[in-house]
Amino acid sequence: MLPRSLVLLQLLLLLSSASAWKKDEFRNCDQTPFCKRARSRPPHSLPSFSVADVSLSDGSLSALLLPPSSHPLHQVVDSASHSDSPDSPRPLLLRLSALHGGILRLEIDELETASGSRRRFRVPDVLLPDVDDRLRLRLPRLGSPAPGLSTFPISPGFEAALRHDPFELVVRRSPSGDPVLSFNSLGLFDFETLRPKRHGDGDGDGDGDGDGEWAERFRSHTDSRPRGPQSVSFDVSFHGADFVYGVPEHALSSSLALRPTRGPGVDSSEPYRLFNLDVFEYLADSPFGLYGSVPFMLAHGAGASSSGFFWLNAAEMQIDVLAPSSAGRVDTLWMCEAGVVDAFFFVGPGPKDVLAQYASVTGAPAMPQQFALAYHQCRWNYRDEEDVAAVDAGFDEHDIPYDVLWLDIEHTDGRRYFTWDRALFPHPEQMQQRLAAKGRHMVTIVDPHIKRDDSYYIHKEATENGYYVKDASGNDFEGWCWPGSSSYPDILNPEIREWWADKFSLQSYKGSTPSLYIWNDMNEPSVFNGPEVTMPRDAIHYGNVEHREVHNAYGYYFHMATSDGLLKRGDGKDRPFVLSRAFFAGSQRYGAVWTGDNTADWDHLRASVPMLLNLGLTGLTFSGADVGGFFGNPEPELLVRWYQLGAFYPFFRGHAHLDTKRREPWLFGEKNTALIREAVHLRYSLLPYFYTLFREASVSGVPVMRPLWLEFPDDKETFNNGEAFMVGPSLLVQGIYQEREKSVSVYLPGEQSWYSLRDGVAYGGSASHKLDVREDSIPSFQRAGTIIPRKDRFRRSSTQMVNDPYTLVIALNSSLAAEGELYVDDGKSYDFEQGAFIHRRFVFADKKLTSVNLAPANSGAKKFSSDCVVERIIVLGLPAGAKKAVIEPGNREAEIEIGPLNLRAGSSPVAPTIRKPNVRIADDWTLRIL
Ligand SMILES: *[C@@H]1O[C@H](CO)[C@@H](O)[C@H](O)[C@H]1NC(C)=O
Repeated sequence: MLPRSLVLLQLLLLLSSASAWKKDEFRNCDQTPFCKRARSRPPHSLPSFSVADVSLSDGSLSALLLPPSSHPLHQVVDSASHSDSPDSPRPLLLRLSALHGGILRLEIDELETASGSRRRFRVPDVLLPDVDDRLRLRLPRLGSPAPGLSTFPISPGFEAALRHDPFELVVRRSPSGDPVLSFNSLGLFDFETLRPKRHGDGDGDGDGDGDGEWAERFRSHTDSRPRGPQSVSFDVSFHGADFVYGVPEHALSSSLALRPTRGPGVDSSEPYRLFNLDVFEYLADSPFGLYGSVPFMLAHGAGASSSGFFWLNAAEMQIDVLAPSSAGRVDTLWMCEAGVVDAFFFVGPGPKDVLAQYASVTGAPAMPQQFALAYHQCRWNYRDEEDVAAVDAGFDEHDIPYDVLWLDIEHTDGRRYFTWDRALFPHPEQMQQRLAAKGRHMVTIVDPHIKRDDSYYIHKEATENGYYVKDASGNDFEGWCWPGSSSYPDILNPEIREWWADKFSLQSYKGSTPSLYIWNDMNEPSVFNGPEVTMPRDAIHYGNVEHREVHNAYGYYFHMATSDGLLKRGDGKDRPFVLSRAFFAGSQRYGAVWTGDNTADWDHLRASVPMLLNLGLTGLTFSGADVGGFFGNPEPELLVRWYQLGAFYPFFRGHAHLDTKRREPWLFGEKNTALIREAVHLRYSLLPYFYTLFREASVSGVPVMRPLWLEFPDDKETFNNGEAFMVGPSLLVQGIYQEREKSVSVYLPGEQSWYSLRDGVAYGGSASHKLDVREDSIPSFQRAGTIIPRKDRFRRSSTQMVNDPYTLVIALNSSLAAEGELYVDDGKSYDFEQGAFIHRRFVFADKKLTSVNLAPANSGAKKFSSDCVVERIIVLGLPAGAKKAVIEPGNREAEIEIGPLNLRAGSSPVAPTIRKPNVRIADDWTLRIL
């Protein structure tokens, strides 16, 4: 008989193999030589680089960065020589520029040598094309307030200070000199310059030099690394910061902020890894890399000020957050396998300033079509046309609106994208047209792995034109994915992106219609038989770029090309909708993302909130998590809770794995159907508010779904709250993350009170409230002092609500005032860019509601109008005694009555309501309460 402990151990092993995350498939830092090397050096353990030859060149600071003469890793013989000996490190070129709006850019690269050694890779097409021209401030002169120090202004109140020896860069306030951000304050900057392979360099045999700087082995894979070691690492310190956020994508279920990974008093963990991977059944809480990467970190602290740091580099990155050595400062260590330093320091000082600064270099989120904000129904797979018709009819039958029906990989002919399984889908056009007749859309999946089949036109063209990524020996790279043996378009090449984009034209994509949009999955890229389920790092792209250098941006380029394809298809007039699983900095310009293959359990429900908040902070506001969880079968209670939370995600889609039970919303009994219906209805009624928030995001970079601290930056209680979130400035939502939860504690920030969305009851601000948990909703509140526009008539789809009247919900604060906005356009085209939109601000003060035009006069060549009226105005917090409202112009009267707070059948709580004011949203008007 086995001892008890062994039985237990076996049980544990069994359990852990059932929960399937395969740790061994993925490299940790110790198995990653560049990471291990960089991480092994304690702060100040290396002699530091120094700065020389500082000068002003075209309005930027340029200088040489000299490796330390005694640097053990560089084995320098003579540091001053620019060296004909290939072994000695060369000086680096450093450039510093101030960009408009409070941004400092730092670039460090190798000097081009006379021998013309290979240039290191700089990621193109991510920064907005004119960043340098548009944003760079050309400095008239440098300051040198002390020997060995150069300074220059960044923006009013901030300056850059470059210390020469040892090299350190500080972004600080001026004149106080208080640091905001600094680079190399811990002396951990290192930069492995390219050099020829020499005798004795490791060949990856796993022992020997142990470092594997040249060839590396991992499991059964060998990375030939013909270009040798070329990593870059450095430390960045955030001063005045208590917490850091961002650098997605990581599963975080226990914290909104990034927990320290090393240092005193901390449970050491892996660094946060940025390496786009298809991770099967990922854990709900782990610093390992997932599907996308955005190397942008934000910091925030008790001084209510924020700052940010962005490193434009698409190679594998690992980031340590060090335990605070002193209060109000967070040190971080950034390590990357290849590339250059092209880094941006954002001075803030407010959190929304940091977001605007980041958006000014990588772009603000694209304005989506209105329908894309509504509910999406997906499953792997809707089997055939009958299944599609039945699901579509099911929504109507059960009075649940939805807008988009999705088809996963099985709709194709043998996983050849852009084709249909004609036995299952004989009439794809008619199928789409039937949906379109109800104002609905369809989405099909198009992945980057192309089936190697000579009779498949995409493969034929790609082969003939040499459009595939090459393997290390120069042949078309072949990997295994859904269709079997597959190759991958080399989407880094603009010509290939152009070719790819043309595949979405209605002529080329047979069976597609204008109401069809696209989903890009598996674009990390996923390669089932590749190292870590992805493409080998020594694969070769356009321009002789190694895959290792561009890996994290592969999905970004694929998303870009697909989005460009839909743009072309619609002749530049139809906003694309493309959902992508992989992403990089800048993906917000091309469409939506989701958190990939999550699991139907409560931890994943909880993790969705910090994950989406961190995505939103780094630009990717159009994001969601699969409602219900992709893997596994949710209990009805979990499914309902997920719909109640998902109704507030910026991207709201239900999705499920092939092996799961069917879970259309009406399959769990009448009660659960009603609860899900109510959650979806709530989303539809809030669509005008969501659309207005997406407009704001597309202008300012401020996300739709926001951590509380973005709205309450001086309230410390909010800094690490990952259970609740704001939708825009006006709504606060708290998820329910436990089965049969009886009560929940909700922290409501700010001085003003909050009105429960469900019953209009007011709760005081700056307090935690212990609330009874209800079955029919999760806690959600409207902030006093705000106005939210709604549409309360329920239709089959959002597109059928276009002409419906509005409800305004005014939540008065203690000064009996409130304000809010409404943005409306045609929901579809780019005419808004030429002024074709309605943008109003509603202001309530002194018992008077005014609609103010926010669209600039003469804002463009096109106009948009709407006959929609406001049919109801609910005023929460209105003192008793108000009888009627007088509307100007026209001197019309409208009754004030007690009316339903929401349109739930039957028992809705009530609130003072102005009935049928019938003012047009396009017009100026005022409404006075008597
Ligand atoms: C009440 O709300 C209005 C409009 O949002 C705002 O201007 C005012 O400062 C608020 N009053 C208080 C006391 O917060």
